[in-house]
Amino acid sequence: MRGRSGWNADGVSTVITNIGELAGADEERWLVEDAALVIDGDRIAWAGPARDAPAADERYDARGRAVLPGFVDSHAHLVFAGERAEEFAARMSGRPYSAGGIRTTVERTRNASDEDLRANVRRIVAEMARQGTTTVECKSGYGLSVEQEERAVRIAAEIVDEVTFLGAHVVPDGTDPSDYVSLVTGPMLAACAPYARWVDVFCERGAFDAGQTREILSAGRAAGLVPRLHANQLGPGPGVRIAVEYDAASADHCTYLTAEDIAALAGSETVATLLPGVEFSTRQPYPDARALLDAGASVALATDCNPGSCYSSSMAFCIALAVREMRMTPEEAVRSATEGGAKALRRTDVGHLRPGARADVLLLDAPSHIHLAYRPGVPQVARVWREGKAI
Ligand code: NIG
Ligand code: FE
Repeated sequence: MRGRSGWNADGVSTVITNIGELAGADEERWLVEDAALVIDGDRIAWAGPARDAPAADERYDARGRAVLPGFVDSHAHLVFAGERAEEFAARMSGRPYSAGGIRTTVERTRNASDEDLRANVRRIVAEMARQGTTTVECKSGYGLSVEQEERAVRIAAEIVDEVTFLGAHVVPDGTDPSDYVSLVTGPMLAACAPYARWVDVFCERGAFDAGQTREILSAGRAAGLVPRLHANQLGPGPGVRIAVEYDAASADHCTYLTAEDIAALAGSETVATLLPGVEFSTRQPYPDARALLDAGASVALATDCNPGSCYSSSMAFCIALAVREMRMTPEEAVRSATEGGAKALRRTDVGHLRPGARADVLLLDAPSHIHLAYRPGVPQVARVWREGKAI
Protein backbone atom coordinates (compact mmCIF):
# COMPACT_ATOMS: atom_id res chain seq x y z
CA MET A 1 0.00 0.00 0.00
CA ARG A 2 2.88 2.32 0.65
CA GLY A 3 3.00 5.09 -1.89
CA ARG A 4 -0.49 4.46 -3.24
CA SER A 5 -2.01 7.79 -2.29
CA GLY A 6 -4.70 7.95 0.34
CA TRP A 7 -4.35 4.47 1.84
CA ASN A 8 -2.13 4.30 4.84
CA ALA A 9 -0.81 0.93 5.75
CA ASP A 10 0.03 0.80 9.46
CA GLY A 11 2.98 2.98 10.27
CA VAL A 12 2.85 5.09 7.09
CA SER A 13 2.71 8.80 7.77
CA THR A 14 0.82 11.40 5.74
CA VAL A 15 1.11 15.15 6.02
CA ILE A 16 -2.00 17.05 5.01
CA THR A 17 -0.68 20.46 4.01
CA ASN A 18 -2.14 23.75 2.91
CA ILE A 19 -5.17 23.50 5.21
CA GLY A 20 -7.01 26.85 5.05
CA GLU A 21 -8.79 26.29 8.35
CA LEU A 22 -8.06 23.49 10.82
CA ALA A 23 -10.57 22.80 13.60
CA GLY A 24 -10.12 20.95 16.86
CA ALA A 25 -6.36 20.48 16.72
CA ASP A 26 -5.14 23.12 19.13
CA GLU A 27 -5.75 23.10 22.89
CA GLU A 28 -6.01 26.91 23.08
CA ARG A 29 -7.78 27.86 19.86
CA TRP A 30 -10.43 25.63 18.28
CA LEU A 31 -9.70 27.11 14.85
CA VAL A 32 -6.30 27.79 13.30
CA GLU A 33 -5.51 29.01 9.79
CA ASP A 34 -2.78 27.97 7.33
CA ALA A 35 -2.20 24.69 9.09
CA ALA A 36 -0.92 21.18 8.50
CA LEU A 37 -1.74 17.86 10.11
CA VAL A 38 0.31 14.68 10.28
CA ILE A 39 -1.32 11.26 10.42
CA ASP A 40 0.94 8.44 11.56
CA GLY A 41 -0.71 5.05 11.14
CA ASP A 42 -4.10 5.38 12.82
CA ARG A 43 -3.25 8.40 15.01
CA ILE A 44 -2.72 12.13 14.72
CA ALA A 45 0.98 12.70 15.26
CA TRP A 46 1.34 16.44 14.78
CA ALA A 47 -0.71 19.59 14.11
CA GLY A 48 0.49 23.14 13.63
CA PRO A 49 1.36 25.95 11.22
CA ALA A 50 1.83 24.73 7.62
CA ARG A 51 5.30 26.30 7.44
CA ASP A 52 6.55 24.15 10.35
CA ALA A 53 5.15 20.84 9.09
CA PRO A 54 7.56 17.92 9.43
CA ALA A 55 8.26 15.60 6.51
CA ALA A 56 6.17 12.46 6.10
CA ASP A 57 6.00 9.43 3.79
CA GLU A 58 3.10 10.93 1.85
CA ARG A 59 1.75 14.39 1.23
CA TYR A 60 -1.82 15.46 0.62
CA ASP A 61 -2.57 19.01 -0.52
CA ALA A 62 -5.79 20.36 1.03
CA ARG A 63 -5.67 23.34 -1.36
CA GLY A 64 -6.82 25.86 1.21
CA ARG A 65 -9.92 23.96 2.27
CA ALA A 66 -11.19 23.29 5.81
CA VAL A 67 -10.27 20.22 7.88
CA LEU A 68 -12.33 19.09 10.88
CA PRO A 69 -12.46 16.08 13.18
CA GLY A 70 -14.80 13.40 11.79
CA PHE A 71 -18.32 13.77 13.16
CA VAL A 72 -19.27 11.76 16.24
CA ASP A 73 -22.89 10.64 15.87
CA SER A 74 -23.71 9.68 19.44
CA HIS A 75 -27.34 8.62 18.93
CA ALA A 76 -28.75 6.30 16.26
CA HIS A 77 -31.09 3.29 15.96
CA LEU A 78 -29.79 1.28 13.00
CA VAL A 79 -30.76 -2.33 13.71
CA PHE A 80 -34.13 -2.32 12.00
CA ALA A 81 -36.00 -3.63 8.98
CA GLY A 82 -38.64 -1.82 6.96
CA GLU A 83 -39.21 1.89 6.52
CA ARG A 84 -42.11 4.15 7.53
CA ALA A 85 -42.36 6.74 4.76
CA GLU A 86 -46.19 6.80 4.88
CA GLU A 87 -46.08 7.63 8.58
CA PHE A 88 -43.79 10.57 7.78
CA ALA A 89 -46.11 11.77 5.01
CA ALA A 90 -49.11 11.54 7.36
CA ARG A 91 -47.25 13.59 9.97
CA MET A 92 -46.49 16.25 7.42
CA SER A 93 -50.21 16.56 6.82
CA GLY A 94 -50.99 16.95 10.48
CA ARG A 95 -50.90 13.61 12.31
CA PRO A 96 -48.76 13.88 15.49
CA TYR A 97 -45.75 11.64 16.18
CA SER A 98 -46.33 8.97 18.84
CA ALA A 99 -44.17 6.29 20.39
CA GLY A 100 -46.56 3.67 18.95
CA GLY A 101 -44.93 3.69 15.50
CA ILE A 102 -41.97 1.88 17.05
CA ARG A 103 -44.10 -1.30 17.19
CA THR A 104 -44.46 -1.34 13.39
CA THR A 105 -40.69 -1.50 13.06
CA VAL A 106 -40.48 -4.12 15.82
CA GLU A 107 -42.67 -6.48 13.84
CA ARG A 108 -40.63 -6.10 10.66
CA THR A 109 -37.34 -6.35 12.51
CA ARG A 110 -38.33 -9.57 14.26
CA ASN A 111 -39.13 -11.11 10.87
CA ALA A 112 -35.82 -10.10 9.27
CA SER A 113 -32.81 -12.38 8.99
CA ASP A 114 -29.53 -11.66 10.76
CA GLU A 115 -28.02 -10.99 7.34
CA ASP A 116 -30.70 -8.42 6.47
CA LEU A 117 -30.19 -6.58 9.75
CA ARG A 118 -26.42 -6.66 9.39
CA ALA A 119 -26.70 -5.31 5.84
CA ASN A 120 -28.95 -2.49 7.02
CA VAL A 121 -26.52 -1.38 9.73
CA ARG A 122 -23.60 -1.57 7.29
CA ARG A 123 -25.53 0.38 4.65
CA ILE A 124 -26.28 3.28 6.98
CA VAL A 125 -22.85 3.31 8.62
CA ALA A 126 -21.33 3.55 5.12
CA GLU A 127 -23.79 6.32 4.24
CA MET A 128 -22.72 8.14 7.41
CA ALA A 129 -19.02 7.69 6.64
CA ARG A 130 -19.43 9.22 3.19
CA GLN A 131 -20.90 12.26 4.95
CA GLY A 132 -18.01 12.60 7.38
CA THR A 133 -19.20 10.59 10.38
CA THR A 134 -16.42 8.44 11.78
CA THR A 135 -17.79 7.38 15.19
CA VAL A 136 -21.27 5.90 15.49
CA GLU A 137 -23.38 4.87 18.46
CA CYS A 138 -26.14 2.35 17.77
CA LYS A 139 -29.01 1.20 19.97
CA SER A 140 -31.08 -1.95 20.07
CA GLY A 141 -34.79 -1.52 20.79
CA TYR A 142 -36.69 -2.99 17.84
CA GLY A 143 -36.52 -6.56 19.14
CA LEU A 144 -38.15 -6.39 22.58
CA SER A 145 -37.58 -10.06 23.47
CA VAL A 146 -34.50 -11.68 25.00
CA GLU A 147 -33.42 -13.36 21.73
CA GLN A 148 -34.24 -10.40 19.51
CA GLU A 149 -32.55 -7.79 21.69
CA GLU A 150 -29.48 -10.03 22.09
CA ARG A 151 -29.36 -10.38 18.31
CA ALA A 152 -29.60 -6.59 17.86
CA VAL A 153 -26.73 -5.70 20.22
CA ARG A 154 -24.61 -8.56 18.86
CA ILE A 155 -25.00 -7.35 15.27
CA ALA A 156 -24.45 -3.72 16.28
CA ALA A 157 -21.26 -4.70 18.14
CA GLU A 158 -19.86 -6.29 14.97
CA ILE A 159 -20.09 -2.98 13.12
CA VAL A 160 -20.03 0.14 15.32
CA ASP A 161 -17.86 1.49 18.11
CA GLU A 162 -20.54 2.17 20.68
CA VAL A 163 -23.46 -0.12 21.46
CA THR A 164 -26.46 0.70 23.65
CA PHE A 165 -28.95 -1.74 25.12
CA LEU A 166 -32.41 -0.19 24.69
CA GLY A 167 -34.66 -3.13 25.55
CA ALA A 168 -36.78 -0.48 27.30
CA HIS A 169 -37.86 1.24 24.09
CA VAL A 170 -41.60 0.47 24.41
CA VAL A 171 -43.60 -2.31 26.08
CA PRO A 172 -44.40 -4.88 23.38
CA ASP A 173 -48.06 -5.43 22.48
CA GLY A 174 -49.90 -7.83 24.73
CA THR A 175 -47.31 -7.71 27.53
CA ASP A 176 -47.92 -6.50 31.06
CA PRO A 177 -45.64 -3.49 31.71
CA SER A 178 -44.32 -4.74 35.05
CA ASP A 179 -43.62 -8.21 33.58
CA TYR A 180 -41.74 -6.50 30.76
CA VAL A 181 -39.61 -4.43 33.16
CA SER A 182 -38.74 -7.68 34.98
CA LEU A 183 -37.71 -9.24 31.67
CA VAL A 184 -35.59 -6.20 30.70
CA THR A 185 -33.83 -6.01 34.06
CA GLY A 186 -33.41 -9.80 34.28
CA PRO A 187 -32.73 -12.23 31.41
CA MET A 188 -32.68 -9.60 28.65
CA LEU A 189 -30.06 -7.49 30.39
CA ALA A 190 -27.99 -10.59 31.17
CA ALA A 191 -28.06 -11.62 27.48
CA CYS A 192 -27.30 -8.13 26.14
CA ALA A 193 -24.77 -6.71 28.62
CA PRO A 194 -21.78 -8.59 27.12
CA TYR A 195 -22.27 -6.74 23.80
CA ALA A 196 -23.12 -3.26 25.09
CA ARG A 197 -21.43 -0.43 26.91
CA TRP A 198 -24.55 1.65 27.59
CA VAL A 199 -28.06 1.18 28.96
CA ASP A 200 -30.85 3.47 27.72
CA VAL A 201 -34.57 3.86 28.46
CA PHE A 202 -37.26 5.76 26.53
CA CYS A 203 -38.53 7.70 29.56
CA GLU A 204 -41.74 9.18 28.20
CA ARG A 205 -45.49 9.05 28.48
CA GLY A 206 -46.50 6.00 26.41
CA ALA A 207 -43.16 4.30 27.07
CA PHE A 208 -41.55 4.02 30.57
CA ASP A 209 -42.34 6.12 33.65
CA ALA A 210 -39.93 7.48 36.28
CA GLY A 211 -40.07 4.44 38.56
CA GLN A 212 -39.54 1.96 35.72
CA THR A 213 -36.74 4.09 34.30
CA ARG A 214 -34.89 4.14 37.63
CA GLU A 215 -35.33 0.40 38.02
CA ILE A 216 -33.90 -0.30 34.55
CA LEU A 217 -30.98 2.14 34.87
CA SER A 218 -30.10 0.72 38.29
CA ALA A 219 -30.11 -2.85 36.96
CA GLY A 220 -28.07 -1.80 33.92
CA ARG A 221 -25.53 -0.07 36.12
CA ALA A 222 -25.28 -3.14 38.37
CA ALA A 223 -24.51 -5.18 35.23
CA GLY A 224 -21.65 -2.80 34.38
CA LEU A 225 -23.41 -0.64 31.79
CA VAL A 226 -23.36 3.15 31.87
CA PRO A 227 -26.67 5.05 31.71
CA ARG A 228 -27.83 7.38 28.95
CA LEU A 229 -31.47 8.35 28.51
CA HIS A 230 -34.17 9.32 25.99
CA ALA A 231 -35.57 12.25 27.95
CA ASN A 232 -38.19 14.98 27.49
CA GLN A 233 -38.79 14.27 23.81
CA LEU A 234 -42.58 14.40 23.52
CA GLY A 235 -43.38 16.55 26.54
CA PRO A 236 -42.02 17.81 29.85
CA GLY A 237 -41.22 15.04 32.30
CA PRO A 238 -38.80 13.55 34.79
CA GLY A 239 -36.27 12.17 32.26
CA VAL A 240 -33.64 14.89 32.38
CA ARG A 241 -33.61 14.98 36.16
CA ILE A 242 -33.28 11.18 36.33
CA ALA A 243 -30.41 11.30 33.83
CA VAL A 244 -28.58 13.79 36.05
CA GLU A 245 -29.40 11.81 39.21
CA TYR A 246 -27.83 8.71 37.59
CA ASP A 247 -24.84 10.68 36.28
CA ALA A 248 -25.84 9.51 32.81
CA ALA A 249 -23.35 10.28 30.06
CA SER A 250 -26.13 11.97 28.14
CA ALA A 251 -29.76 13.07 28.24
CA ASP A 252 -31.01 12.86 24.68
CA HIS A 253 -33.69 14.93 22.89
CA CYS A 254 -34.28 17.60 25.61
CA THR A 255 -37.07 19.05 23.50
CA TYR A 256 -39.25 20.15 26.43
CA LEU A 257 -37.12 21.53 29.26
CA THR A 258 -38.03 23.53 32.35
CA ALA A 259 -35.65 26.05 33.93
CA GLU A 260 -34.95 23.40 36.60
CA ASP A 261 -34.01 20.84 33.95
CA ILE A 262 -31.58 23.30 32.36
CA ALA A 263 -30.03 24.15 35.74
CA ALA A 264 -29.69 20.45 36.56
CA LEU A 265 -27.89 19.74 33.28
CA ALA A 266 -25.64 22.79 33.68
CA GLY A 267 -24.61 21.64 37.16
CA SER A 268 -23.76 18.12 35.99
CA GLU A 269 -21.46 16.11 33.75
CA THR A 270 -24.46 14.88 31.76
CA VAL A 271 -24.38 16.09 28.15
CA ALA A 272 -27.59 17.44 26.60
CA THR A 273 -27.74 15.66 23.24
CA LEU A 274 -29.95 17.56 20.83
CA LEU A 275 -31.44 15.79 17.80
CA PRO A 276 -32.93 18.53 15.62
CA GLY A 277 -33.58 16.16 12.72
CA VAL A 278 -36.31 14.68 14.92
CA GLU A 279 -38.02 18.02 15.44
CA PHE A 280 -37.76 18.62 11.69
CA SER A 281 -39.27 15.22 10.88
CA THR A 282 -41.99 15.26 13.54
CA ARG A 283 -42.91 18.96 13.32
CA GLN A 284 -42.12 19.59 16.94
CA PRO A 285 -40.57 22.74 18.41
CA TYR A 286 -36.76 22.75 18.44
CA PRO A 287 -34.99 22.41 21.81
CA ASP A 288 -33.73 25.58 23.44
CA ALA A 289 -30.03 25.14 22.66
CA ARG A 290 -29.29 28.78 23.52
CA ALA A 291 -30.64 28.42 27.06
CA LEU A 292 -28.57 25.25 27.56
CA LEU A 293 -25.35 26.78 26.22
CA ASP A 294 -25.85 30.08 28.02
CA ALA A 295 -26.39 28.20 31.30
CA GLY A 296 -23.11 26.33 30.74
CA ALA A 297 -24.46 22.88 29.90
CA SER A 298 -22.47 20.62 27.55
CA VAL A 299 -24.31 20.10 24.28
CA ALA A 300 -23.96 17.40 21.62
CA LEU A 301 -25.67 17.17 18.25
CA ALA A 302 -26.60 13.79 16.78
CA THR A 303 -28.90 12.44 14.07
CA ASP A 304 -31.07 9.88 15.94
CA CYS A 305 -31.14 8.11 12.56
CA ASN A 306 -34.09 5.67 12.69
CA PRO A 307 -36.99 4.76 10.38
CA GLY A 308 -39.59 6.60 12.48
CA SER A 309 -38.82 9.94 14.06
CA CYS A 310 -35.86 10.95 11.81
CA TYR A 311 -34.57 8.99 8.85
CA SER A 312 -31.54 11.17 8.19
CA SER A 313 -27.92 10.14 8.66
CA SER A 314 -26.60 13.62 7.93
CA MET A 315 -24.69 15.43 10.66
CA ALA A 316 -24.32 18.40 8.27
CA PHE A 317 -28.12 18.65 8.17
CA CYS A 318 -28.22 18.67 12.00
CA ILE A 319 -25.60 21.42 12.04
CA ALA A 320 -27.56 23.52 9.58
CA LEU A 321 -30.75 23.11 11.65
CA ALA A 322 -28.90 23.91 14.87
CA VAL A 323 -27.61 27.15 13.39
CA ARG A 324 -30.75 28.25 11.58
CA GLU A 325 -33.43 27.02 13.97
CA MET A 326 -31.70 26.78 17.34
CA ARG A 327 -29.48 29.85 17.22
CA MET A 328 -26.24 28.01 17.75
CA THR A 329 -23.22 29.65 16.13
CA PRO A 330 -21.59 27.55 13.39
CA GLU A 331 -18.66 26.97 15.75
CA GLU A 332 -20.94 25.81 18.58
CA ALA A 333 -22.80 23.52 16.20
CA VAL A 334 -19.69 21.90 14.69
CA ARG A 335 -18.08 21.50 18.12
CA SER A 336 -21.28 19.88 19.40
CA ALA A 337 -21.20 17.47 16.44
CA THR A 338 -17.58 16.51 17.17
CA GLU A 339 -16.26 17.09 20.70
CA GLY A 340 -19.80 17.24 22.14
CA GLY A 341 -20.61 13.81 20.71
CA ALA A 342 -17.31 12.48 22.06
CA LYS A 343 -18.15 13.79 25.54
CA ALA A 344 -21.62 12.22 25.30
CA LEU A 345 -19.83 8.91 24.67
CA ARG A 346 -17.13 9.61 27.28
CA ARG A 347 -14.48 9.27 24.60
CA THR A 348 -11.26 11.28 24.67
CA ASP A 349 -9.73 9.79 21.50
CA VAL A 350 -12.27 11.14 19.00
CA GLY A 351 -14.00 14.48 18.33
CA HIS A 352 -10.70 16.40 18.13
CA LEU A 353 -7.44 16.31 16.15
CA ARG A 354 -4.82 16.94 18.79
CA PRO A 355 -1.76 14.67 18.72
CA GLY A 356 -2.72 11.23 20.02
CA ALA A 357 -6.29 11.43 18.70
CA ARG A 358 -7.60 8.70 16.44
CA ALA A 359 -6.93 9.88 12.89
CA ASP A 360 -10.56 10.53 11.97
CA VAL A 361 -10.29 13.50 9.65
CA LEU A 362 -12.83 15.29 7.49
CA LEU A 363 -11.65 17.45 4.59
CA LEU A 364 -14.45 19.71 3.39
CA ASP A 365 -14.86 20.85 -0.17
CA ALA A 366 -15.21 24.34 1.31
CA PRO A 367 -12.94 26.91 2.92
CA SER A 368 -14.71 27.03 6.28
CA HIS A 369 -16.78 25.04 8.78
CA ILE A 370 -19.41 27.80 8.39
CA HIS A 371 -20.23 26.40 4.95
CA LEU A 372 -21.84 23.36 6.61
CA ALA A 373 -24.72 25.64 7.64
CA TYR A 374 -24.26 28.29 4.94
CA ARG A 375 -24.73 25.76 2.09
CA PRO A 376 -27.40 23.44 3.51
CA GLY A 377 -28.17 20.30 1.56
CA VAL A 378 -25.03 20.56 -0.57
CA PRO A 379 -22.58 17.64 -0.40
CA GLN A 380 -19.33 19.19 0.82
CA VAL A 381 -17.23 16.23 1.88
CA ALA A 382 -14.02 16.06 -0.16
CA ARG A 383 -12.30 13.24 1.72
CA VAL A 384 -12.63 11.29 4.97
CA TRP A 385 -9.92 9.40 6.80
CA ARG A 386 -10.98 6.95 9.52
CA GLU A 387 -8.25 5.54 11.72
CA GLY A 388 -5.79 6.97 9.21
CA LYS A 389 -7.31 5.27 6.19
CA ALA A 390 -9.07 7.18 3.43
CA ILE A 391 -12.60 5.90 2.91
O1 NIG B 1 -35.30 8.50 19.41
N1 NIG B 1 -37.81 8.04 21.08
C1 NIG B 1 -37.68 6.87 20.90
N2 NIG B 1 -37.08 6.27 19.88
C2 NIG B 1 -36.76 6.87 18.65
C3 NIG B 1 -37.86 6.74 17.66
C4 NIG B 1 -37.99 5.40 17.15
C5 NIG B 1 -39.07 5.21 16.15
O2 NIG B 1 -39.99 6.03 15.98
O3 NIG B 1 -38.98 4.16 15.52
C6 NIG B 1 -36.35 8.32 18.82
O4 NIG B 1 -37.03 9.23 18.37
FE1 FE C 1 -33.53 7.83 19.79
